Amino acid sequence: MNIILDEIEIVENVLTPEDFVRLRTATGFTDIPLPHATRALKNGLVNVSALCDGELVGMGRLVGDGAMYWYLQEIIVLPEYQGQGIGRKIVNYLVEYVILHSSTGKFTTIGGVSAKGKEGFYQKMGFEIIPNGIKKMVEI
Ligand SMILES: CC(C)(COP(=O)(O)OP(=O)(O)OC[C@H]1O[C@@H](n2cnc3c(N)ncnc32)[C@H](O)[C@@H]1OP(=O)(O)O)[C@@H](O)C(=O)NCCC(=O)NCCS
Repeated sequence: MNIILDEIEIVENVLTPEDFVRLRTATGFTDIPLPHATRALKNGLVNVSALCDGELVGMGRLVGDGAMYWYLQEIIVLPEYQGQGIGRKIVNYLVEYVILHSSTGKFTTIGGVSAKGKEGFYQKMGFEIIPNGIKKMVEI
């Protein structure tokens, strides 16, 4: 059952590694060690938390070079809060962030890899689905 939302607040760079891991695993992403999560957040360009009455209900991250290429990562809304426009708020916020922080003032690229079945969500956010997104898993 969905919860009726009052106000959703988007806050930059307050996400803890513990919450990052919790949101990932709550939505089917693999568990990752805390030191790994800590480093990932630190080295990312920005992360945002979506708060509902002060409670963390979603997140999103941008990684990349902060100029030419920006990549959306972990756009996540907790299951009981999905379908109420929070994902849209997170993505719109990050797109605005890119526009504000891009150095060229001309154009830049926002990329990402859509999880299976989420392509329609990104299309609704104005993204194009391209066939040549690639990824490689390496053992570390
Ligand atoms: C994908 C996700 C972030 C969407 O968040 P959400 O808060 O449920 O999405 P919103 O309510 O903001 O939806 C915005 C629009 O996208 C549409 N949409 C949402 N998920 C969709 C999907 N899987 N396929 C097609 N359209 C979708 C909604 O219907 C809505 O359309 P509307 O504005 O015309 O009504 C959320 O489902 C989630 O966290 N999933 C698990 C984690 C995940 O897979 N993240 C993506 C990683 S690539």
